[in-house]
Amino acid sequence: MIDPAKFTAEAVDRLRHDVPGKTLVAASGGIDSTTAALLTERALGDRARAVFVDTGLLRAGEVERVSEFFRSSGLRFDVVSAAERFFGTLEGVADPEEKRRRIGEAFIRVFEAEADRFGADRLVQGTIAPDWIESGGSLRDTIKTHHNVGGLPPDLRLKVVEPLRDLYKDEVRALARYLGVPYADRQPFPGPGLAVRIAGPVTRDRVRRARVANAIVEEEIEHAVAEKKIPRPWQYFAVLLPLRSVGVLGDNRVHGEVVSVRVVESVDAMTATSMGVPHPVLSRIAERVTRELSGEVVRVLYDITDKPPATIEWE
Ligand code: XMP
Repeated sequence: MIDPAKFTAEAVDRLRHDVPGKTLVAASGGIDSTTAALLTERALGDRARAVFVDTGLLRAGEVERVSEFFRSSGLRFDVVSAAERFFGTLEGVADPEEKRRRIGEAFIRVFEAEADRFGADRLVQGTIAPDWIESGGSLRDTIKTHHNVGGLPPDLRLKVVEPLRDLYKDEVRALARYLGVPYADRQPFPGPGLAVRIAGPVTRDRVRRARVANAIVEEEIEHAVAEKKIPRPWQYFAVLLPLRSVGVLGDNRVHGEVVSVRVVESVDAMTATSMGVPHPVLSRIAERVTRELSGEVVRVLYDITDKPPATIEWE
């Protein structure tokens, strides 16, 4: 485990060395990139600018939540609305690796345009150890191309700086707490956003459904945690599956979507266990998802697979 004060002092020195001019910080609002942004702000002040990209693939209320924290922490940042670009590049794409590659590339194009505006030649990213290990850094096969690693196009004009690349999640959380991030204990959310929680093609309608289902899972699980029915899980979310199933709506049969709910316990995301969530909590989630997405989602499943052999996210 790191000593946060010592790590901060060393990271600030290293950033000053690695960034002679100006840099952007890729800030997704997650713990890793927020921590990287705060370190960079400390090291470089007005030579750094955080860029928060609204991909159109974020969870409900996320843009507002993140902007509010960035504002209150005094971070210099811009929110870039790029949903059109992301939906455009994902049109008709169902393959998980191809989705990640295109999303990574779209991010980079946005950052390059912002870097031109700001006069930056560096990009700070919140990459942590499991991101590059699982993207093929040391394991033989690429498990998944995490967007902030494998998505980098070969012609990238910005030099990437990764102040957290040797840290594991529990170490980043300790550092985030030390730097005053109010959501240091929040669950991780993948950089490619809801796109990797939508198996099969990504459309605006499917993103809307995934957003509603994810919000319901978060609310109900947080409620169960507050009522001490379960310990706080590592991650809890909903995934739209690439299949349709028959349901009933009033007197009619409907052919709707299927949602899988995943709640896992983990220490560092390298391995994970499906949590034994009490059935009434799961029933309530199924009841709400099929009611609040009436006629659109007709079936809710619970994923009981551990990692390995599954990964935490479906894609
Ligand atoms: P998997 O699904 O590979 O995920 O077991 C391990 C952890 O990483 C998160 N994850 C990502 N985080 N960019 C990220 O920043 C990504 O592309 C990405 N893919 C997965 C996942 O939510 C889990 O916590």
